[in-house]
Amino acid sequence: MKTLRSIALWLDDRLFISKLFASTAGHYVPASAGSWFYVFGSATLLCFIIQIITGTCLAFVYVPSTNEAYTSLQYLNHSQFLGLYLRALHNWGSNFMVFIMTLHMIQVFLFGAYKYPRELTWISGIFLMILTLAMAFSGQVLRFDEDAYWGLGIGASITGRIPLIGSRMVQLLLGGPIIAGETLSRFFTLHVFIVPGAIIAFVSLHLRLVLTKGINEYPQPGREVHRATYDAEYAEIIKKDGVPFVPHAIGKDLIFAGLVIIAILTCAGIFGPSGPSGPPTPARVDTVPRPDFYFLSIFAALALLPDWMEEFVLFVAPGILLLFLLALPFISGTGEKSYRRRPVAVLAVIFIMLVLGVLTYLGQRAPWSPKMDAWSSDAVPVKYLQHLKPVELRGAAVLQNKQCRNCHMLGGTGGERGPALDGVASRLSYDQLVRQVIQGGGNMPAYAKQLNPAEVDALVSFLITLKDEGVPSVRPSNEPEKPGAQVAAR
Ligand code: HEC
Repeated sequence: MKTLRSIALWLDDRLFISKLFASTAGHYVPASAGSWFYVFGSATLLCFIIQIITGTCLAFVYVPSTNEAYTSLQYLNHSQFLGLYLRALHNWGSNFMVFIMTLHMIQVFLFGAYKYPRELTWISGIFLMILTLAMAFSGQVLRFDEDAYWGLGIGASITGRIPLIGSRMVQLLLGGPIIAGETLSRFFTLHVFIVPGAIIAFVSLHLRLVLTKGINEYPQPGREVHRATYDAEYAEIIKKDGVPFVPHAIGKDLIFAGLVIIAILTCAGIFGPSGPSGPPTPARVDTVPRPDFYFLSIFAALALLPDWMEEFVLFVAPGILLLFLLALPFISGTGEKSYRRRPVAVLAVIFIMLVLGVLTYLGQRAPWSPKMDAWSSDAVPVKYLQHLKPVELRGAAVLQNKQCRNCHMLGGTGGERGPALDGVASRLSYDQLVRQVIQGGGNMPAYAKQLNPAEVDALVSFLITLKDEGVPSVRPSNEPEKPGAQVAAR
C-alpha cells in the first residue's frame, strides 16, 4: 500500500494529475448550476463520444466507393454479426445528438447564459451546431441510397445557385460536375476526418471557456447583468456557495447520461437503423426520396414555397439567421437573464419550434418535385409508330419502359424537366443522341448502366425518326457535308 502510494505521488509530482483535476473536473461551480436544466451540454458531448465509437466500428466494414457503399451496408445489415444494431446505434446516436443539442441551445438561450461574459462560449456553440448538422448531412450521404443520392443532388444544385462561386463550390463538394466516384470519397473524408476534427477543436474551446468564464448561475428574476459588476458578483457566488463540479454537481449529469444511453440502446433496438432505401439509381425517376428528419423542414420549405421566394429562403434567410445568432450576445449582452422576465425570448423559441415542427410534419408529405408527376409509362402515341422498322419499334418500347417521358414530352404529354422529344432528330445527330442517352448531362441521368448496347441502338434508331416535318435530320458527324444541304435545312 505504501509503495503504491509513493508511486502515485511520484507520478503526480511529474504529471501534475491532481492539479489538472482541480482545475478541470474539480473546478468550482455555483451550487445552483447542479440543476436538471444543466444536463444537456454534457449529454450532447456524450452523444458525440458514442458517435465516435460506433462510427469507428462502422468504418471497419464500410467501403466508401459508389459501387460498393450500398453493398457494404447490405452486408452490415444482413451478414455482419450485430452490424444492423451498430448501424442503428450510430443512427440513433445522431438523432439524439441533434435533439439534445437543440435542448441545450434552448436552455442556454432562455437562461441568458449567452450574455456577458460568455459571448465566446455561445459563438463557439453556434459553430458546433453548424458542424453537427454538417455531420448529419455528410453521414446521410455516406448511406448512398436513393435518399442520399437525391439529397446530395438537391444540396449540389442549391450550392450551384450561389452567385459567382456556385459552380466552383459544386466542383469542390462533388469532386466533379456530377455525383460520381470522387464524391463519396470526399464525403467520407469530411464525415470521418475533417468535420469531427473541427468538432473536437471547437469542443475543446467550448469547454475551455466553460472553465475560464464559469457555468452560468441559475438566473434569478430581477437580477440583472452589468458589465462593470458581473465578474465580482460571480466571484462572490462561487465563494459563498460554490461547489466542486466533481463530485458535487455531476450527479444529475451522470443520471441523465445513463438515461440517454438507455434511450439510444432502446430506440436502436426497436426502430433499427435508417435506410438504406432503394439503391442509388440515377435513372429511376419514380422515386420519392426524403432527407433525414433534421432536414425535412428545409426540404418542405423548398418544396412548398413559390419559386420566386426560393432565392430568399436558400441564401438570404439562413445568412440573416446565422448573423443574428452570432451577434446575439452583443445585441443583448446585459440585463435580465431569467426567462420569466423575457417574454419575447420565450415567444421566439415557441415560434421557431412551431415553424420547424410544422415544416417537418409537412416535409413528410411535400411533393418531391412538382413537375415530375407526369404519368411516365404512357405508351408512345400511334402516330409516331406508323411505318417504323422493327428495331425502331423496339426503341419506342425502351422509351416507354425507361420512363423517359417522366421528364420529356412527346406528342404533348409528359414531364417538363427536359426538352420535348418531338423533332429531336432535327436538332441532334445520331452520335449526339447516343451520347446524350449514355452520358446524360445537363440534369439528365446517364443511362450507360441502365441500357445494354442493343437497347441504346434501338432507342436512338427510334429517336432519329422524330423529325420536324419538312426539316431533314442533322448530318452525322462522320459524313462529309453535301453541297446544298445547308440551303435545304434553312
Ligand atoms: C430526370 C429527367 C430525365 C429523364 C428521366 C430523361 N431525360 Fe433526357 N433530358 C433531360 C434534360 C434535363 C435534358 C436537357 C439536357 C441539356 O440541356 O443539356 C435532356 C435531354 C435529352 C435529349 C437531348 C434533347 C435536345 O433537344 O437537346 C435527348 C435526346 C434525351 N434527353 C433523351 C432521353 C431519353 C431517350 C430518355 C430515356 C432513356 C431520357 N432522355 C430520360 C432530362 C431527362
